Amino acid sequence: MESLEKEAAVALDYLSRISKEAEKAFDEFLPSEKDRPCRLHEAMRYSMFAGGKRLRPALVRAAFDMFGGKGESVRYAMSALEMLHTFSLIHDDLPCIDDDDFRRGKPTSHKQFGEATAVMAGDALCILAFEMMGKTGNAKAIEILAHLLGTFGMIGGEMTDIECEGKQVDLEIVDYIHYHKTAALIEASLEVGARLANASEEEVKAIRDYGRSIGLAFQIVDDILDIVSTTEELGKDAGSDIEKGKATYPALVGLEKSRERARELYEESIKALDSLKQDTEILRSIAAFIITRVK
Ligand code: IPE
Ligand code: IPE
Ligand code: MG
Ligand code: MG
Ligand code: MG
Repeated sequence: MESLEKEAAVALDYLSRISKEAEKAFDEFLPSEKDRPCRLHEAMRYSMFAGGKRLRPALVRAAFDMFGGKGESVRYAMSALEMLHTFSLIHDDLPCIDDDDFRRGKPTSHKQFGEATAVMAGDALCILAFEMMGKTGNAKAIEILAHLLGTFGMIGGEMTDIECEGKQVDLEIVDYIHYHKTAALIEASLEVGARLANASEEEVKAIRDYGRSIGLAFQIVDDILDIVSTTEELGKDAGSDIEKGKATYPALVGLEKSRERARELYEESIKALDSLKQDTEILRSIAAFIITRVK
């Protein structure tokens, strides 16, 4: 584990560098709080600028650069992926879904602005994200992103997640939930970055396989952290999964086996990069970060 933490150092530097670039783009593309509807624009900016690891924009950027992408389109895509992720978080926290009070170290959107504004801030971020993707002019990237966000992606996972609350489910269902609610958007970030750089179909496949493995590992680690960390450390409500009877890895197989599974997925993600001739250092480091992260 210690050497993995060393491996993750490159990713930490990268995330901090990309966060700055991404936040500049968000500021440019998000509507001003001075424009009507001011409160809605304020709520969109509140959640987008509350912090966060900026993992998805970093994956877009890493894939784009790795495959030799050039130009401005990547800034639109990085912003779109973080807007979609933030939309998913605002809605995930709503009283009718996970009913959580804290996110990114601050009160959740519905706690701060009320439910109606939170629902609309999420909707507006989702729609703005596709406007940004439209500016890339890459129809295939837009289609794939919509697919991996919809009922066969994030929304499908979120729906099943709430349907399974308090129920006895097997690991196959947990994998279904994890893949759809979390890994799909991580995979999409990489595919969008790769497609904007005109990567080949084989390259896209390799990077998606990598994305699926790190995405599943990401959610297992999220489930572990929900148990072993505090609300202060995470910046979001710890212990929320047990309270709701969520279908998680630790609930089914315990913490130790969950850690082993995350480690296996890490190995799989590294293997998926084998066929690529490009420099994969950043991606390998991000995989190590994902399984060693503490928030
Ligand atoms: C939280 O995602 C939601 C999950 C998919 C588990 P992150 O842990 O990436 O949240 P931020 O963006 O850093 O706040
Ligand atoms: C949510 O999973 C994944 C999303 C699509 C937002 P969780 O419900 O476990 O995410 P957190 O723990 O609230 O961030
Ligand atoms: Mg949830
Ligand atoms: Mg949640
Ligand atoms: Mg969680």
